[in-house]
Amino acid sequence: MEIQGGTSTRRRFINWFLGTSIGALLASIVYPVTRYVSPPEVPEATTNQVEAGSTNDPDLMQKGFKIVRFGADPVILVRASEADFRAFSATCTHLDCIVEYHADRKRLFCNCHGGEYDLQGKNVAGPPPRPLAVYTVKVESRAAGQPGTIVIVKA
Ligand code: FES
Repeated sequence: MEIQGGTSTRRRFINWFLGTSIGALLASIVYPVTRYVSPPEVPEATTNQVEAGSTNDPDLMQKGFKIVRFGADPVILVRASEADFRAFSATCTHLDCIVEYHADRKRLFCNCHGGEYDLQGKNVAGPPPRPLAVYTVKVESRAAGQPGTIVIVKA
């Protein structure tokens, strides 16, 4: 009688142990896979303008451009002349490479396939089929003699 009770208890323990182990194993596999496959619930940034730094930003002064995040999109801010700042979508309209500015030629270039855009964002050479999207640039002045703050606004 006691032996049967001990066997029954042991069997229930083994069944419980195996059942919970398999359950834990499945949970440890299914949960991470589910989390990886389903996108996070982060709302898309609805940005209409971004602050892009000061007018004497080292990148703008030396290279003549800098890439700025505008929500999820990259925007290229170009210093066309001392007080002339322009902004365009930095995504090439051919196959989505990131463009850069060549100050010596006053052109935006895409190194992937040799696409070129002028300072109005118009596609002028290479395979890009459309112009770059143009953004409005405002310079907000601080105190007299201080560098201004560049603000890029969705046109
Ligand atoms: S991706 Fe820019 S030219 Fe092809």
